[in-house]
Amino acid sequence: MKASVNEDCIGCGLCEGTCPDVFTIGDDGIAQAVEGDMPEDAEDSAQEAADNCPVSAITIE
Ligand code: F3S
Repeated sequence: MKASVNEDCIGCGLCEGTCPDVFTIGDDGIAQAVEGDMPEDAEDSAQEAADNCPVSAITIE
């Protein structure tokens, strides 16, 4: 599975706190998702981060 963060991100940091293996806050203060397929054991927490993002900026596919 892959994760992506769109331009709606407000940099709240929740995703990094929930799933740091996949999401990091960049120097621009906006979240970035790991490139390519995420580690299998991170899929559940990545989905949780997507579900809880306050601006629904995360897509998991
Ligand atoms: Fe941004 Fe949502 Fe994460 S606002 S920092 S993508 S939880």
